Amino acid sequence: MRYDSITDAIGDTPLVRIDPDVHGLRNIDLYAKLEMLNPFGSLKDRAAWNMAREGLAAAQERGETVVELSSGNTAKALALIAGLHGLPFKSVTNRMRIPEIKDLLLLLGAEIEELPGRSECLDPTDTDDPLTLFHQRLNRPGSAHFHTDQYFNALNTEAHASGTGPEIIADLDGRAPDWFIACVGTAGSSTGVARALRAHDPLVSVVGLVGEKTDFIPGIRNADEVQEVGLFDPATYDTIESVSADEAIDGMVTLLRRCGLLAGPTGGAAYYGAVRHLRPLDERLTDRRSAVFIVCDRVESYLGYVRQRRPELLGRPPVKNSVATLTDTEARTATVVDVAEAQKWIAEERPLVIDLRGPFAYAALHIDGSVNIVDELFDELLRGGLPFGKRQPVLLACPVGERSARYAALLTRMGHPDVRSLAGGIVAWRDAGAPLVRD
Ligand SMILES: Cc1ncc(COP(=O)(O)O)c(C=O)c1O
Repeated sequence: MRYDSITDAIGDTPLVRIDPDVHGLRNIDLYAKLEMLNPFGSLKDRAAWNMAREGLAAAQERGETVVELSSGNTAKALALIAGLHGLPFKSVTNRMRIPEIKDLLLLLGAEIEELPGRSECLDPTDTDDPLTLFHQRLNRPGSAHFHTDQYFNALNTEAHASGTGPEIIADLDGRAPDWFIACVGTAGSSTGVARALRAHDPLVSVVGLVGEKTDFIPGIRNADEVQEVGLFDPATYDTIESVSADEAIDGMVTLLRRCGLLAGPTGGAAYYGAVRHLRPLDERLTDRRSAVFIVCDRVESYLGYVRQRRPELLGRPPVKNSVATLTDTEARTATVVDVAEAQKWIAEERPLVIDLRGPFAYAALHIDGSVNIVDELFDELLRGGLPFGKRQPVLLACPVGERSARYAALLTRMGHPDVRSLAGGIVAWRDAGAPLVRD
């Protein structure tokens, strides 16, 4: 296999059958589309190259910087493509939560700009989100940026409608699978593949997978973030189902330990979601069917993520005090106060106010006198036991009040008698016109 450019090696990834003894489906052949075998390491190589290809020469002439709103695989692919063409690359993002990817981007020469935002994924309908404002600024004429615009660029979807989808059909001897299962980030890959498969066979059933509410699976949206924005169109999916971070890791471990696939968490989520969706259908089948799920990227960048959530998988003692160990029922036991009650409580009893958002969001606007402990760090702190005395009342705040409620429930379980969560978070506080200060 000889190529003039590494970008020629993008695509044509293998479709590999999963051993039925592992997944247990009797009438369905389940295949993994191994997108992690693209040259820059993920499914996003296709979208990045398709979005950048035509504009690179003009960007070189005008001395522009390639820029994208991404904290993961798209940024990685674009950093490599930009470098290959002698262009700088800048990644703009809310918060880089996977340190290995951040370090890799820096090693690739990327500039990283982290902005205070409310969610991991861009929400272009939220006009107050600093990331949205930045997105609008980038698209103004005269900006010295070549913005590939993955959340809106039809070339993202098209990369999969013309590449990934037709490859699946060709590898299934000219037939579309009966089910296609994929995780949803920008929605480019699931939308593009679904379009190609349905053009071939309108009866293909498409399952979109997202992370569970308030849960974090790197690279994809959670149930709160799925909305009609950018490339996402609910009509693409026959059903949208949630996978928890724990289930994604369980699926990933099966792919790693039983299937010889070095899959990352979203590959695990796709496998887990596929088997869970197909199992009850399989039992009723009398003829053979097929299903395909996508393995987006590889596991190595996520060892820290696994260490934090499931240390026992790496031979370390299991975590007792972590929000990941809360049941849904426990999570609902938190004491929640609205903005007016919180203001009164702060004035009368001076609770310790802990703001769990990222440092950029905190610096931009916060409750006067609050301390900033970003939620991952707070999680680490709690592993060692209560980090403050039981007589110290505590008010927890996060962007919209969901994470803080989980932490409040956890602290209660750990024996803290007076911890409360700010309902609606800093967004509700701001919307109520309560005072906020900036650094
Ligand atoms: C690890 C990972 N898996 C899956 C996806 C989903 O891809 P898409 O953006 O095409 O929906 C992404 C997207 O960023 C990702 O980074």
